[in-house]
Amino acid sequence: MKIMVMNGPNLNLLGRREPAIYGKQTLSEIEESLKVLGAELGLEIVCVQSNREGELVDALQEADASCQGVILNAGAYTHTSVAIRDAVSGISVPVVEVHLSNPLAREVFRKTSLLAGVSAGSISGFGAESYALALIWFARKSDQPA
Ligand code: DQA
Repeated sequence: MKIMVMNGPNLNLLGRREPAIYGKQTLSEIEESLKVLGAELGLEIVCVQSNREGELVDALQEADASCQGVILNAGAYTHTSVAIRDAVSGISVPVVEVHLSNPLAREVFRKTSLLAGVSAGSISGFGAESYALALIWFARKSDQPA
C-alpha cells in the first residue's frame, strides 16, 4: 500500500516557522520519520510539498492513479481553496486532513475547513504526530477485509 503525504504552502519552512505553534522539526525530519513508521507498518510513503494550489491539485490527481491514500496538510489552502476541495472530492482514494496545530483553537478565519467535509477524517493539534496517527489509520484499514 502506497500513501502520499502532501504538504501545502509554507510547510517547507517548518523548523523555523513559528516553532511555538508548529514545532521545531523540519519537514524533511517529519517526512523521514513517517517513512520509518511506514516501513514498520508495511506502507510505502511518497512525499510531496508545494506552495502552489494547482500543483497540489495535480498531486491529488496523481495520487488517485498511483496511491491508495493521501495524508494532506493543505496549510492555509484548507481555509480558502475550492479547487483543492473539488480535487479531494473528485478522486477515489481516501484523504485524511491533518494539521500540526489545532485550527479550531486559533483565529476565526482558521475555524472553517473546506476540506473536512470531503475528507475521510481530520486529525489536528498533535504536532507531527497528527501525520503518524493518520498513517496508523491507513495501516489498520489495510489490515481489514474490504
Ligand atoms: C496548518 C494550519 C493552517 O491554518 C495554517 O495556515 C498552516 C498550517 C497546521 O498544520 O497547523 O499553514 O495547516
